[in-house]
Amino acid sequence: MEVTHTFAATRDLYEGRIGLLPTMGYFHEGHLSLMDLLRRECDTMVVSNFVNPTQFDQSADLDSYPRDIDRDSALAEEHGVDIHFVPEVPEIYPPGSSTEVTVGKVALGMEGKHRPSHFVGVATVVAKLFAGLRPDIAVFGKKDAQQIAVLKGMVTDLRFPVEIVSGPLVREPDGLALSSRNVRLGAEERERALAISRGLFQAAMQIDAGERDGDRLEATVSRSISRLDADYVELVAAETMEPIAALDRPAVLAVAAYVGEVRLIDNLSIEWVDGTPAPDRGLILEEPSRLSAK
Ligand code: PAJ
Repeated sequence: MEVTHTFAATRDLYEGRIGLLPTMGYFHEGHLSLMDLLRRECDTMVVSNFVNPTQFDQSADLDSYPRDIDRDSALAEEHGVDIHFVPEVPEIYPPGSSTEVTVGKVALGMEGKHRPSHFVGVATVVAKLFAGLRPDIAVFGKKDAQQIAVLKGMVTDLRFPVEIVSGPLVREPDGLALSSRNVRLGAEERERALAISRGLFQAAMQIDAGERDGDRLEATVSRSISRLDADYVELVAAETMEPIAALDRPAVLAVAAYVGEVRLIDNLSIEWVDGTPAPDRGLILEEPSRLSAK
């Protein structure tokens, strides 16, 4: 595996079909499962590792974001990554650069509403990565369902010649969605955080039992997280990310909530199989994550 710091040095190493996994580093099994998925789909696998300042709306969140490049390089190498691309800020945002990608309707609700500049930052950095690295295929995790919808829209609208593939949401054995931010949870907070996935799984059971009413599904999750400080609980259409009143098409039941200082997001994606909603609980690890523990 090579570690690179510039677009040009990265492209010099290319052979065959190029796959890209964009990340902000501090890898956990969610990132690793996307590497394993991408490994099968490309010849040269590039993993970018860049804590993108423009997508953080609070500087405290940016400052406390965990980083460890050596640890990440070792994990990337174990998972068959060919190039670990670790740019410094000026490679991505050269002095004087001022062009941004504006995002449309799919970015208005949920994360976009609560973190107003977030998706402009995400779309801009991913557009730069696509233009600078020119991948044939790029993978993203379903943990960030709205991010996938925003980026699919960007690729269609701006005609980026890249195929977008999504990978499963990876969870701890007890249900907690893996996140680089989980290392910031204290023991008591981590316990309280379980209310999020528990609420989503309860809603999944209701869906399996025939519930289709949006308010009732949202209420199930809201009740479960009543001791957390929720930003939103919303049932939205998978394609548009717009709220829906009833479960009558592929959808996402999405949550964001603070546990102490730490903001967590999670969701249940609800696919449609033979005319019936099929909640996707994600990929549940058999052993507790060794990487998102402290
Ligand atoms: P980051 O949070 O590092 O996530 C990198 C990729 O891993 C994203 O596609 C994200 O959805 C996926 N991921 C994170 N946790 C996951 C989990 N528990 N299960 C499955 N996939 C998971 O998302 C970003 O970085 C940034 O916004 C980025 C796209 C790199 C732009 O800066």
